[in-house]
Amino acid sequence: MAKKALITGITGQDGSYLTEHLLGLGYEVHGLVRRVALEDPTRRFTRLGGVLDRVKLHAASLESYPSIFQVFSREQFDECYHLAAQSFVAESFTDGFSTMNTNINGTHFVLAALRELQPACRFYFAGSSEMFGKVREVPQRETTPFHPRSPYGISKVAGFDLTRNYREAYRMYCASGILFNHESPRRGYEFVTRKVTSTAARIKLGLTSELLLGNLEAKRDWGHARDYVRAMHLMLQAEEPDDYVVATGETHSVREFCELAFGELGLDYREHVREDERFYRPAEVELLVGDSAKARRVLGWEPQCSFDELIREMVREDLKAAERAAGHDGAA
Ligand code: NAP
Ligand code: GDD
Repeated sequence: MAKKALITGITGQDGSYLTEHLLGLGYEVHGLVRRVALEDPTRRFTRLGGVLDRVKLHAASLESYPSIFQVFSREQFDECYHLAAQSFVAESFTDGFSTMNTNINGTHFVLAALRELQPACRFYFAGSSEMFGKVREVPQRETTPFHPRSPYGISKVAGFDLTRNYREAYRMYCASGILFNHESPRRGYEFVTRKVTSTAARIKLGLTSELLLGNLEAKRDWGHARDYVRAMHLMLQAEEPDDYVVATGETHSVREFCELAFGELGLDYREHVREDERFYRPAEVELLVGDSAKARRVLGWEPQCSFDELIREMVREDLKAAERAAGHDGAA
């Protein structure tokens, strides 16, 4: 019989890639979605594109325990991938209260409902390299102490601790991925990689001329989301639940990302990118680079997409999108 998985955050970048991956493996995929007030409802599920008719969606919100409880009362699942969160670090400085509420209580609600109704369901928590924050060692691994630098990072440490506590206290199968930054053409436009590739494409077409960014020297370990959702699935297939760092092991600055992305379009980033202090963060995570030796050894996971390939794919897709938009506007 097909395995049944529930994905919270199914409409997001990772949720969409994970859905495709699980469907490809023969899973029955369900998703938890909240209502949002959109002018154009056809845009609600763009990332799920061609697979929307193959998933079953359940209405619920991370802020409401009863809504989550109802979902688990209706259907039994083999695996639950808890990806839903307020995921934008900068936003967590502007509205820390909502970020904490959604990310900490939301995770607690899912765990508590599972314990009550389906303790045998395997649980994945979307932990983050932001938990390392002001890093205590380079590269970061599972044993590196956490020092979060934002309300978002703090909320993820709490979610990670909750997940481990449910594993230890109730012997539930609860695993956390400590995932480093992963991107794709489906990345939200507010994150730096997509902001760079989408604006560079518009600059190429003459639709704009400038890109305002914050700290160009911040360094990140950037991989492809398609590779990272494979690791999530592998974590829930291991005999024992555990925590794993998922990373490429390479680190690059925002400046390098700009140089390559603009270069891909035959542009010099120095002629277009300006630093603007409005995009600086009150406390910055300066350097992230992960050691995923454990995931490679125990799960047999490894990334397939290189940094250059990731940038090329994102730029190519954003150029196509900008050309389509320009065609509609008649602007270029
Ligand atoms: P994303 O694109 O921002 O997606 C977030 C998802 O969470 C969306 O489906 C969103 O649904 C849902 N959500 C947010 N608030 C909700 C609420 N109150 N109730 C129900 N659903 C809610 O994020 P992502 O990049 O796919 O990341 C997935 C997870 O991995 C997140 O937990 C993130 O913090 C974590 N993570 C991401 C990275 C990364 O580099 N991408 C690295 C480490 C960890 P709507 O469509 O309704 O907004
Ligand atoms: N967003 C953004 N916008 N970031 C900028 C900008 C800008 O204009 N200019 C410089 N940056 C820098 C940020 O200060 C940060 O150091 C780096 O670019 C990456 O920022 P984001 O792309 O917003 O990602 P993030 O690293 O803060 O968080 C992402 O990765 C985490 C894993 O480490 C998110 O996906 C989190 O949800 C995830 O947990």
